Order: sequence, then structure tokens, then C-alpha cells
Amino acid sequence: MLVLAPAPCAVAGGSLDALVDQALRVSLQRLEQSVREVGAPVLYPTYGTPQLKWQLKSSADWTSGFYPGCLWYAGELSGDRRFEAWAGQWTKAIEREKFNADTHDLGFRFMCSFGNGIRLARGPEYDRYKEIILTAATTLARRYNPRVGCLSSNWDLVKDQQAFPVVVDIMMNLDLLFWAAENGGPLDLAAVARTHAITTGRDFVRPDGGTYHVVRYDKNTGRIISKGTLQGAGPETTWSRGQAWALYGMVAAYRHTRERPFLDLAMKLADYFIRNLPADRVAPWDFQSGIKYHDVSASCIVTSALFEMLRYVQDPSRRAHYRREAEAMLASLCQPPWFATLTDTSCLLDHSVQFLPINSNVDVPAIFADYYFLEAIIRYRSGQASGGGR
Ligand code: GLY
Repeated sequence: MLVLAPAPCAVAGGSLDALVDQALRVSLQRLEQSVREVGAPVLYPTYGTPQLKWQLKSSADWTSGFYPGCLWYAGELSGDRRFEAWAGQWTKAIEREKFNADTHDLGFRFMCSFGNGIRLARGPEYDRYKEIILTAATTLARRYNPRVGCLSSNWDLVKDQQAFPVVVDIMMNLDLLFWAAENGGPLDLAAVARTHAITTGRDFVRPDGGTYHVVRYDKNTGRIISKGTLQGAGPETTWSRGQAWALYGMVAAYRHTRERPFLDLAMKLADYFIRNLPADRVAPWDFQSGIKYHDVSASCIVTSALFEMLRYVQDPSRRAHYRREAEAMLASLCQPPWFATLTDTSCLLDHSVQFLPINSNVDVPAIFADYYFLEAIIRYRSGQASGGGR
């Protein structure tokens, strides 16, 4: 049996493969167990308790797409058709969100569930997936304000009728718009997504590559009212998951547009993230906070993003650097204390943080950490298979 000992740095030779194989074997067992525990395919794991039991919510929660996404990935990684059937069941109940214009997170909900399904599944029961995604994309685009050049956030802590708040997380929802435009939906959805990404790159990214979490614009003029944070430690700090969303979103913007400034921004954001990592290669919840918690979810998101990004980086030494960093992060994530050691749990990774300033779900599992962890493994393996991620 493989002994999982902390290995903060990149592992040499084939040992990362062994770590990944072992973590994946346990992950698949836990996901199978989760199907029995969750029970009804209208409930979705969100965050874990301190005892590593999933808290469940309806499809209305922003995280609902991740659990079917984990099941789709489990099917892809294992070839076990039962996961595909389960993924289809938990995907189905998300359809009811397709007209929900009260959220900026339709991309998370629909691309992790229906989006993975349309990529992976074959059969008449999946024929409606495309139409459902196109409807969700059209709904999301209603949040766009052309004077600002962004989609709006569905929440803010500041009550200002004049303000149009935008959170950096919205970058993750652009994939839904790009995909829809590329697959028979209105072409202006891609223009909306592209403009949102350009505005985010201009207004959220600091000269050192760190990011603001929220920017508030005047909804009538598009002028910036303020910049700061909602979930981070302070207005001038960098909340690590926000940084991760920005980086992943810029990589996706580059994937869809092939416009070089998006890749340059992605590398700048990645460099900041990597430069500020502690020795264990797992991100703190906020890069400048004195309160010492890690946020494993931020590292899972970035690890997956880096494995995609390095396919686009032309310079061999930079590409090798990002590969080393991504592999070192993946090696850490496959091991305790990040990969949960408790045997009686269906959570994969521990030590994520939802919202520290209001003490909500601090230092517990998060379903999106598990989702991006599995995605990182898929991307790591496909890079190995194609001779280095190209
Ligand atoms: N998008 C919400 C979060 O990252 O907590």
C-alpha cells in the first residue's frame, strides 16, 4: 500500500502518478458512497461539516452543478457507466434554473452539469442538453450592462441604488456564453463574454498581479465608484479564490478567443498566485491576512487552470515552470492533510473556506474543491498522454 506522507515539493519520476492513482482510487469509492448518502437527485452537496459530512441544498444554490460535474468526471476517469447514469440524474434537476436571472452563477450550474454531459454522454435522453444550455446562456446575458461592459453580481454588502457591483467570480460564468455562441446561440453572447473579460482585466487586476474581489460601477455612466472585497480580508488584499477564479476565467477566455492579452493576463495572475504560495504549495484563504487558514479550493482551481494554460504557453522554460508548479500543487492535494484521511467520509478534500469574514464554512470540505481536483487529474493525465500537455 502506498504511504501518503506530506511532500510539499514536486515529486520526481513516476511518483506523482502513483499519488494520483491512489487518491483517485479512494475518490471513486467515496463518490460511489456519496450517491447512496445524498439519496434524492434533487439535493446537492455544498460544504462539509467539521466531521466531513456533506451539507445538502437544492439546485438553487450556486454550487449545485459541481456534484453532477464530479460524477461526470468520475465516469470519464473510470469508464464506469454507473457514474454517467448518476451524473445524468443529478444534472436533470438543475434544468429548473435555466430562467433564473437572479444569479450571476448560471455558468457554474450549467457548464459543470449539462456542459460536461453534452461533452461526454451519448443517447437520446441527452438530446435536450444543448437547448437547455442555450436558454441558460440567454438568461445570464440579461445581467449585462453595456455602459459598464460587464454582467452584474447578484449580491453586494453595500446598499447603493446607483451601484452596479461586479465580482471577479463572474469570470467563471463566461464559458457558458462563449459555448452558447459557438453552438448555435446568438453570436452577441460571445461579444458580451469577451467584453466582460476585457473590463475585468482592466479594472480588477493590480499592477502586481493580485486582484480586487469586487468593483462597483455607476450603472448609468459605467464610472468606477469603488474597488474592494466581499469575501477577502480587506479592500487591498487578494482573496485567493478570487485570484483563482480570475486566472481560470482568463484561461477560458483565451481558449475561446485565442486573443493574446487574455493569456498574458492569465500568466500574470498565475505568477502572483505561485509567488505568494507557502512552502506546502496550498494557498492561504487570503494572501495578506494574518488569520491563518488555507483554502484548498483555490489551489484546486488554479492547478486545473495551470494544466490547461501550459498547453498555450509557447516559451519552453515558462511552460516547464508552470508544469512543475502545477504538478507540485497536485502532489500536495493528493496527500494529507488536504486529501481527507477520515475513512468514513464521501468528501475528497478538506480545508476549504467559503466566507471567512462572516465565519461561514471555514476550514471544511467544499464541493467545488473536489470538482476542480478531479478536473486537474483529467488534465494532468491528458497532458501525460499527449506528450506534455500540448
Ligand atoms: N463564487 C462564490 C465563491 O467563490 O465563494
